[in-house]
Amino acid sequence: MLGEKTITADNELTIAGCNVVELARKMGTPLYLYDEEHMRSNMREYMTSFSESYPTSVVAYAGKAFLCSAFCRIIQQEGLWLDVVSGGEYYLARQANFPPERIIFHGNNKTDWERREVLKRGIGRWVIDSEMELEWLMEEAQNYSKGKLPVLFRITPGIDPHTHRHITTGTVDSKFGLPIEGGVAERAIAQALLSPWIEVCGVHCHIGSQISSLEPFEKAAEIMLEFMASFQKAKDFVLRELDMGGGLGVPYLDQEKEKFPSISQYVMAITDKVKETCARLSFPLPFLLVEPGRSIVNTAGSTVYQVGVIKEVPGGKKYVAVDGGMSDNPRPILYDARYQAVVANRVLSDTREVVSIAGKCCESGDVLINEIELPKMESGDILLVEGTGAYNFSMASRYNLLPCPGVVFLRQGEPYLVVRPENWGDLVQKDLIPDYLGKEC
Ligand SMILES: Cc1ncc(COP(=O)(O)O)c(C=O)c1O
Repeated sequence: MLGEKTITADNELTIAGCNVVELARKMGTPLYLYDEEHMRSNMREYMTSFSESYPTSVVAYAGKAFLCSAFCRIIQQEGLWLDVVSGGEYYLARQANFPPERIIFHGNNKTDWERREVLKRGIGRWVIDSEMELEWLMEEAQNYSKGKLPVLFRITPGIDPHTHRHITTGTVDSKFGLPIEGGVAERAIAQALLSPWIEVCGVHCHIGSQISSLEPFEKAAEIMLEFMASFQKAKDFVLRELDMGGGLGVPYLDQEKEKFPSISQYVMAITDKVKETCARLSFPLPFLLVEPGRSIVNTAGSTVYQVGVIKEVPGGKKYVAVDGGMSDNPRPILYDARYQAVVANRVLSDTREVVSIAGKCCESGDVLINEIELPKMESGDILLVEGTGAYNFSMASRYNLLPCPGVVFLRQGEPYLVVRPENWGDLVQKDLIPDYLGKEC
């Protein structure tokens, strides 16, 4: 099993001292569950590793992995910054009173409205992603309400991190960032230096997500620092901040546990490489930022479902259908992601069989787990899919109008509802019927 879980004398699953079966029966399914202490301990591993090896640094949690108002409090309490990628994420953070000077604002296409709102309300770092965005900001930054606008430039270091192509972002043909190649990044930064309203802090890269080896991160750090040093030579200006983005991968299956470096190994690899490269290039050690998402929340999260229809099809394949699916977890259909599960009301059993866990959406591809050996299940059983903490709740859709599950934080034996489940009323709340269509169907 992933994360900290125990089994009761009745063969039922508990997480953070909470009985998963009782929770599911009481609060309904599907439901996202998060072990709060597990997330806090991942944050602390980042913070402690950095404070020991490279104190002039910031850890900014990447909100796109999972965000809600209660979680903003936890991020703040643990001393992290927050990376947001849209006006919506920014708004949520500000509504939760997350300090604007600790927010990093990303996005390859920040809309007029998003740019205006953020300039009005304040930001810690603004990450410029394109020449066109810079052009707009050269005009708009004069409206910044808090002095000079602190910016980083997102740069594509030209690295292939060998992860799924949809989560590879640092190659030169990526839609994100400014390429080093052809002098594009250098030209843009030099242009920004001419603005009296922009404070050029440094550069950013994010090479991809779910990366299983340290080497691409080390390579990226080296390329970025070489760029920073060559910029200093060419323009006599020190880019003093380096943001290395996120991307550290995590195991989704027990057999992958050895495959991924730990958080502290990742921090050590990056900070060692930065120190070594700066020494080689005689470049001053930069202020270092990272933006982890998945490695903080994924293993701490799981989704609990109730088993419904069980069906054997010609050829012998057996489907066990649950009351959620690709609407609460699109990752299997998007990335061929693989998951493991636990039958929460019958964790250990000698009677086991191979089944596929089907979602209830109208897509034959909506299969959460293809072929997994589990205790023999019956309709009404409670199934927990593990490792769904990142990019599940945040990527949930309204497909087939399945209401979005609620989110519960589990802490010292107590469940805390932090996002209430959607209901059918929520699904039609925003609909409008113009008068010309008449009052009745
Ligand atoms: C700019 C940026 N920073 C951080 C992250 C977080 O990545 P991860 O969840 O893999 O740590 C992402 C994810 O895509 C990203 O685009």
